[in-house]
Amino acid sequence: MNEKKIIIAIDGFASCGKSTLARQLAEKLGYVYIDSGAIYRALMLYFLKNNLDFNDPNALQQGLSEAKISFRFNPQTRTNEVCLNGRNVESEIRDMRVSRKVSELSKIKAVRQRVVELLREIGKDKGIVMDGRDIGTVVFPDAELKLFVTADFQERIRRRYEELKQKGVSVSREEIAQNLRERDEADIHRKESPLRKAPDAVEVDNTHLTPAQQLQLVYEMAWKKIHPLH
Ligand code: CDP
Repeated sequence: MNEKKIIIAIDGFASCGKSTLARQLAEKLGYVYIDSGAIYRALMLYFLKNNLDFNDPNALQQGLSEAKISFRFNPQTRTNEVCLNGRNVESEIRDMRVSRKVSELSKIKAVRQRVVELLREIGKDKGIVMDGRDIGTVVFPDAELKLFVTADFQERIRRRYEELKQKGVSVSREEIAQNLRERDEADIHRKESPLRKAPDAVEVDNTHLTPAQQLQLVYEMAWKKIHPLH
């Protein structure tokens, strides 16, 4: 088989279904899935837990050197879950306390440099699906397949509300709407690697697609890249 191992970069706004797509696509291809946002969230959690103010340069350095991020495969969820200093924090990082502050942390240059370095190391052997905001533009500008996922704002609020409700987190639709709006604004307008569609990314609007439909659409694109001689 003329199979080629590739990198699949999936970027887009908050709560647009990137991680569902990335996880399912990786599983179907036998690839590794990495949620880059989980790293920014885990770092944010560390700053919160240790009362470190990331706007203070000394505290920033301290946090960045003390917080060790890794991923561990959970056979039950079939996902690489994020660990902070060896402890699984996959569920804790979805907390609204983290969501409220994470985009303020992720705009800092030293933070991004540290995370980008880690992501490149994780993806160096290819065979990976990674989702985030700057994967196709900055982390892997040579990724063989780049997707930019979009969905209507109301639909994004509905999905995040259902997701958090299922996890037993009580939060209002208004609070979710405000958080998504604020993070999108911050992510688009920051100076360091702002969120934008790479010129060679394929835009996928999944507002009216089921997870199975979006998976099928993207799987076909990936298959063609993986089997270039067909
Ligand atoms: O899943 P959700 O759409 O809520 O966001 P996430 O992927 O968990 O990312 C959380 C935050 O991390 C984003 O709002 C960005 O501020 C930041 N982020 C980033 O700057 N670059 C990435 N590659 C991934 C996330």
